[in-house]
Amino acid sequence: MEVIIQPCAAAAADLVARLLAARLRRTPALVLGLATGRTMEAVYARLIALHRDEQLDFSHCTTFNLDEYAGLAGDQPGSYRRYMQEHLFDHININTRRTHLPDGTAPDLAAECAAYEQRIEQSGGIDLQLLGIGASGHIGFNEPLSALMSRTREKALTPLTRAQNAFAFGGDPARTPARALTMGVGTILAAREIILLATGRAKAAIIAKAVEGPITAMISATALQLHPCCKVLVDADAATLLTETDYYRWIFDHEPEWAPFR
Ligand code: GLP
Repeated sequence: MEVIIQPCAAAAADLVARLLAARLRRTPALVLGLATGRTMEAVYARLIALHRDEQLDFSHCTTFNLDEYAGLAGDQPGSYRRYMQEHLFDHININTRRTHLPDGTAPDLAAECAAYEQRIEQSGGIDLQLLGIGASGHIGFNEPLSALMSRTREKALTPLTRAQNAFAFGGDPARTPARALTMGVGTILAAREIILLATGRAKAAIIAKAVEGPITAMISATALQLHPCCKVLVDADAATLLTETDYYRWIFDHEPEWAPFR
């Protein structure tokens, strides 16, 4: 794992977008794992700008989102399909048929989850997975005690997660769906490269646990410590409670891999 600390949220989102753009230019048929949430909005805005200003080409890439609410159709407000259309897909040259999210309205949700895993496999697996982190430490919707080898399945959402995501449902946690379909921790760990982005003071405590704490199913993000190619990008606010920041900064300043991005 590498931790990269940027001075502000905009700089952290910009670096995530530039990393992703570099991967996409190298491999036009990239298989991308995508995340939702407010943190990702700045990344998607940067990607749209790179498409507009530098002709970043999405026409050959395939995407798989981490999760979708159970019971919500893709055109309903609050659904992650709608979020993706509004924040990214409608503004770039991606082939919508190659953008995948679990279908929260499928008649058999277990079968839908198994089919989602199959679609990822048939696409050759995920090259680069983007992640945010929830207040409960979840990645995707892998709530506390999610098995660290889990695959895509239906999960109940914690009251904390429903409160955190209520902004998309008129601010009312009771109107926020109680269940979701999500890639498992094992699905996420199977990606070839992972980039987690967290910004703001509210994420500082959970980032410290995820990066420097012991691996535990209570905080699914701690499983990322097992991944051979995982980058955690944070702004100075989200880095406040990390203890080894001098070391992380030294690595970023000295590793040749980072030279084009410094
Ligand atoms: C939701 C998503 C997560 C995301 C989290 C963070 O719960 N399922 O994948 O990481 O939101 O949200 P935000 O970026 O709004 O803090």
